[in-house]
Amino acid sequence: MHNPVIDILNDVYEQCRPDTAGAVADYIPELSRVDPDSFGICLATTDGFVYEIGNVGTEFTIQSISKPFTYGLALADRGVAAVAARIDVEPSGEPFNEISLDPDTERPRNPMINAGAIAAAGLVVGDSAEHRFERVRQCYSRYAGRQLAVDEAVYSSEAVTGHRNRAIGHMLRSFGVVDDADAAVDLYFRQCSLIVTGRDLAAMAVTLANNGRHPLTGELALAPELVERVLSVMTTCGMYDAAGAWVTSVGLPAKSGVGGGVLAVLPGQLGIAVHSPRLDEHGNSVRGVQACGELSRRLELHFL
Ligand code: DON
Repeated sequence: MHNPVIDILNDVYEQCRPDTAGAVADYIPELSRVDPDSFGICLATTDGFVYEIGNVGTEFTIQSISKPFTYGLALADRGVAAVAARIDVEPSGEPFNEISLDPDTERPRNPMINAGAIAAAGLVVGDSAEHRFERVRQCYSRYAGRQLAVDEAVYSSEAVTGHRNRAIGHMLRSFGVVDDADAAVDLYFRQCSLIVTGRDLAAMAVTLANNGRHPLTGELALAPELVERVLSVMTTCGMYDAAGAWVTSVGLPAKSGVGGGVLAVLPGQLGIAVHSPRLDEHGNSVRGVQACGELSRRLELHFL
């Protein structure tokens, strides 16, 4: 049967495909090995439909798109008040890797920049590093509806080059925001190295849209009252120092990663994922931002 959503997906894909602006991330050396031309769009609805075009089965690492999911796990593990005592919810207007702490509160400004994400990783409960990582992996797998695995090459590549994140971790330790800097940073590197596809990210997005429950497996990944908080910080902080432009043009809670993924959520309705590895100066996928803007306009998704 003819479906207008598929037509729009095709149009947006063809419209964005010629744009080769931006550059693949190479500051984590292993990330530069991806195919820069890979491009896929996947849209999943809370009533269980999935629409897709392009390379939606291509594997890449989740990178910063992990941040809202670990933040959600930290909220579930520790409670909202305990997490808020260590991580604020204010947009920073700074690049994702800024070595920053709010001088007044002595907390990271939000959980979407690296400082806040490393602090959130430090709050995940577990008996050992392996147990904490396994809990993170299982948590993301519930959102995706399948078991996710680590890209060991990307993990090692970031572990040997991630001095800036280590500096952030030790700054957080010195202010008492994390208890064990090396453990928090290592967990953060591992979570960033989990492998996903466009289809996985669309499932993760639609699970957030569906109040924390995967529409097809029926599994609860996050309590509904915590979903609201996660989507709120995604709205104000998910696209870093481009958050204002994003909210204005796309109008959806979202998160990007330097692996080239972008995920956006229309609460109650649908999740969108785009994968295209060339990034803009903010570390956001060029075609990802463009495709989400076009989809939002054509499907009238701007919810604000
Ligand atoms: O910490 C880093 O630099 C990477 N593991 C993740 C950064 C990232 O994805 C930023 N987002 N666009």
